[in-house]
Amino acid sequence: MATLKSSSDRNSGAVPGVQNGEDFKVQVFSSSSELLEKLHDKWSGKQKPYPAMYSSIFGGIILDPEMMVIPIDDHMVHRGHGVFDTAIILDGFIYELDVHLARFLRSASKAKITSSFSQSTLRSILIQLAAASLCRKGTLRYWLSAGPGDFLLSPAGCPAPAFYAVVIDEDFSQCKEGVKVITSTIPMKSPLFATMKNVNYLPNVLSKMEAEEKGAFASIWVDDEGHIAEGPNVNVAFITPEKELVLPFFDSILSGCTAMRLLELAPKLVELGHLKSVKTANLTMEEAKGASEMMYVGSTLPILPIIVWDDKPIGDGNVGKLTMELSDLLWEDMVAGPETLRVPVPYA
Ligand SMILES: Cc1ncc(COP(=O)(O)O)c(C=O)c1O
Repeated sequence: MATLKSSSDRNSGAVPGVQNGEDFKVQVFSSSSELLEKLHDKWSGKQKPYPAMYSSIFGGIILDPEMMVIPIDDHMVHRGHGVFDTAIILDGFIYELDVHLARFLRSASKAKITSSFSQSTLRSILIQLAAASLCRKGTLRYWLSAGPGDFLLSPAGCPAPAFYAVVIDEDFSQCKEGVKVITSTIPMKSPLFATMKNVNYLPNVLSKMEAEEKGAFASIWVDDEGHIAEGPNVNVAFITPEKELVLPFFDSILSGCTAMRLLELAPKLVELGHLKSVKTANLTMEEAKGASEMMYVGSTLPILPIIVWDDKPIGDGNVGKLTMELSDLLWEDMVAGPETLRVPVPYA
């Protein structure tokens, strides 16, 4: 699981220290132990960013990063036939695991993948994986694929679906700084594909890269009818000048677990008189750009204030007060919310 260091490395196609052309000598590994030795060398002395992985192909949990691999003939690898989801581990609890798992299985059903495991077994595997990882703060990412079999378009030759999951050590904290965003020029996915969390994230990746190339953090998609949709891996929310919290309808975008929780929690600010109302609605670009506050909403944030959009300030261009109140509500829920939402990890 190597990562490339810079965009120049990424774009040049050059591998540092490797000769080109006919001089390029490809090593043939005559045994798996020879390959393993090389992979061991690659990871030796390095901190492991991925403390544990589960694979239904192995039928268990592995702790060695060099073995964290999936088969190349998996339909998810060569045809994108897979779905995924993510939950966060915070202070030794998995937040909203059941909500994420329910969406995961809804996505799987739309992608016509039938899990070999029930929701409760998937849950148990993920909890055991988190425990084996010893990770107290990070992300739990998991995939259901049509499984390995062959390289054809039809999954008919893939006898059984595969389930993979990995724990990633990651530090995150409440976001207090605001970011800049742009309107994406990359076409957004059609509702069928946008409403299921499948592995085809190329539009999302290109949209994020476009923003980064323009000095922004990320982007905002606007649909064919001119309504605000979502960000590349986050939902988006607005506070109108009348102090209404508005989130775009979810019929043609991903129904974010964090956005759903925000809609449940935000009425507390209405009771306090800080917000006038909380609703989902269609928002035109003009209405959205006239908002007094704007924010991204997603699992690892949970709220990220947006202060500039297409080079124009949102509201007064500062992090919004109500944005931070909403962020506090969600953060409090993540660290000390109801037991039903926070699954304790039974570390050994
Ligand atoms: C396209 C897209 N929209 C929205 C979200 C936010 O969803 P959640 O709050 O469940 O992280 C995500 C992340 O999963 C996403 O990939």
